[in-house]
Amino acid sequence: MSYKINKINKRKNIIKVAIDSPAAAGAGTQAKLISKHYNLLQLDTGRVYRFVANIKINEPYKFNYAYLKKKINKLKIEDLENKNLLSDKVAIVASLVAKDRKIRKLVHTFQLKCAYNPPKKYAGSCLDGRDICSVIVPDADIKLFITASLKTRALRRYKELKAKNNYISYSDVLKSIKKRDKSDINRKISPLKKTKDSILLNTSNLSIRRCFLKIKKIIDKKIII
Ligand code: C5P
Repeated sequence: MSYKINKINKRKNIIKVAIDSPAAAGAGTQAKLISKHYNLLQLDTGRVYRFVANIKINEPYKFNYAYLKKKINKLKIEDLENKNLLSDKVAIVASLVAKDRKIRKLVHTFQLKCAYNPPKKYAGSCLDGRDICSVIVPDADIKLFITASLKTRALRRYKELKAKNNYISYSDVLKSIKKRDKSDINRKISPLKKTKDSILLNTSNLSIRRCFLKIKKIIDKKIII
């Protein structure tokens, strides 16, 4: 699955960072740090699928492509900060809606605009998700595949959800992540996979800081003359 980006204005000479990862591997945290350090527009593309999932859960009778198109056309990055999008229920529905080709197409237009035409105040963009290196930003300057063991990821997500007072058990989180991995890796359209040209980073035994420093080294080498 590939998308034509000729309908989207492309800013020249911007830095584009693309990150793919399975759920809870630490990609979002790194994307935030990278974006802050290099002044990039950050988009957690999973949040857009979660936004769609939230509509499916809360407005089931209105949920159709035309309605979604309208909602996504009006979507602003700030809307993705909505705390309701963080729940496990929304995550599971997000991985279901993410299998729908038409929904992916609607979501991709928004993602392409963020990647290729970030507001002028930014030096570029940093997107993370499942199909960023392969489909959304195949010409990114830096491509990373961030992963961690299943147990590490489940524990991290469990702590995150628990801190937000969610009534959830570790075994439920583990099951949910396993299920999403299976669905994201095996789906026909835009499955999660490491592209040959992306750099693999396993964060299982890496602190957030050490992981960031590794990435910083990769980016600096690439962009600083
Ligand atoms: O990253 P996050 O866990 O928020 O993503 C929620 C779901 O959205 C994923 O499980 C995946 O199915 C879907 N997704 C996707 N493509 C992306 C980002 C997320 O299919 N680029």
